[in-house]
Amino acid sequence: MKVYVPADAAARALGSDDVAAAVQAEAARRGLDLTLVRNGSRGMVWLEPLVEVERDGMRLAYGPATAADVAAILDDTSAKALGPTEDLPWMKKQTRLTFARVGLIDPLDMAHYRAEGGLVGLERALALPPTEIVQSVIDSGLRGRGGAGFPTGIKWKTVAEAKADQKYIVCNADEGDSGTFADRMLMEGDPFHLIEGMIIAGIAVGATRGYVYIRSEYPDAIRVMRAAVEVGRKAGLLGPSVLGSAYAFDIEIRVGAGAYVCGEETSLLNSLEGKRGVVRAKPPLPALEGFLGKPTVVNNVISLATVPVIFEKGAAFYRDFGLGRSRGTIPLQIAGNVRHGGLFEVAFGMGLGEIVNDIGGGTASGRPVKAVQVGGPLGAYFPSSLFDTPTCYESFASAEGLIGHAGIVVFDDTADMLKQARFAMEFCAIESCGKCTPCRIGAVRGVETIDRIARGDTAAIPLLTDLCNTMKAGSLCALGGFTPYPVMSALTHFPDDFARAKEAAE
Ligand SMILES: Cc1cc2nc3c(=O)[nH]c(=O)nc-3n(C[C@H](O)[C@H](O)[C@H](O)COP(=O)(O)O)c2cc1C
Ligand code: SF4
Repeated sequence: MKVYVPADAAARALGSDDVAAAVQAEAARRGLDLTLVRNGSRGMVWLEPLVEVERDGMRLAYGPATAADVAAILDDTSAKALGPTEDLPWMKKQTRLTFARVGLIDPLDMAHYRAEGGLVGLERALALPPTEIVQSVIDSGLRGRGGAGFPTGIKWKTVAEAKADQKYIVCNADEGDSGTFADRMLMEGDPFHLIEGMIIAGIAVGATRGYVYIRSEYPDAIRVMRAAVEVGRKAGLLGPSVLGSAYAFDIEIRVGAGAYVCGEETSLLNSLEGKRGVVRAKPPLPALEGFLGKPTVVNNVISLATVPVIFEKGAAFYRDFGLGRSRGTIPLQIAGNVRHGGLFEVAFGMGLGEIVNDIGGGTASGRPVKAVQVGGPLGAYFPSSLFDTPTCYESFASAEGLIGHAGIVVFDDTADMLKQARFAMEFCAIESCGKCTPCRIGAVRGVETIDRIARGDTAAIPLLTDLCNTMKAGSLCALGGFTPYPVMSALTHFPDDFARAKEAAE
């Protein structure tokens, strides 16, 4: 008998370690020949800890499970039985490409990884000249999933064509956006997939060293990635000869101290070099002068972990999913005041309302949805009147918003959008690296101005608008440059919350 109990951080936070211990104790008590696998999460966080029991080759789900449920789960008499995992609506409605193996396999078992299609992408890429690897990534239409949506293949081409004695692949696993957890889930649930993507990137551009920069708040991801690198070295995946080829590639795991701005690529590079995490002016681009001044690919975890899929299934296969210039799939992270929170991978194009109401099941509080913030702390607040906006980079940009890293945070009608606007400005003031004036000073003045509005001084609203325009136009990076999105969207879509302050003051 095989039993799966996730060791994913979210599942652990909800008690999966106790459940795993209970499974082992019950098996010992009954003298059962039972294999316990600590897998990643299937992404249905509201059902965690989600226990799966393999019966007749089929995985049956039970959740949310407690230690007290274990005996009945093993007997298949539990009231928490949900049926075959793959038949759950949440699973069936997805197109799991990047997350195909997350939750399915034992994350550190290389044989299990291979048995589920792992390393096929790398083996196919190894048979191609580097220029063709780059071209396949361009053809796939893959765009960076870290936030900016820059075409991954074009970035690789710049690094590939740069002349240097050393080049680097840096994986951005800082994942600072509020309501996001895709990078963490991927690293904890399928670490070899990311390693495979980084190796392909290295071969494509001529880099022999890679770094994964992980925030310190992710201790489980750090542990799993470190262990996976060790397994990868022993398996000949990493080291002087990748899978017996002429290519060398190795990876080091680095831990960041957890500043939001250290997710910005140049700030991250400074931090990686042991310097203060301050944004560097561009040019030079990191692709030409990045880590230690050498040509460097900086890519998000999900961008890199999608690369093996492109080689396993073909660039055309991947490109066939999506909408407009947003190709492939996007792992949405649904969080906040929502009934069904979790990770949902789907082709670009699904409407925001469908995600929030059909997939997410509306608010957890049962009250009406008031706003949805998409794209982290720099993303706009969308009212329900914009729920027909399809998830693609262009549609979100034309609605004065951004998809970013695809975090979707739901708020019910008790949310005060003036307070949310203040929170956005305050976040920017706290997290600003201080390099440029519009952000360093502007965010502080922004908080003061919103406080004036909160005291009933609505005459300060044009001043806030003016300040936002200055921050947008004059900031050196997107922290100062995009903070106006949540602020202005709150003001534009929820004017009553700003006017109410005046009424209250009168
Ligand atoms: C303030 C700020 C924070 C950022 N945080 C992250 C982050 O946590 N993870 C990430 O991948 N990209 C983050 N980015 C985007 C990176 O600068 C960069 O665009 C990205 O790592 C490139 O990888 P991609 O092309 O694969 O998306 C951030 C950008 C800014 C301005
Ligand atoms: S916008 Fe803010 S975080 Fe970005 S460089 Fe300027 S001060 Fe630093």
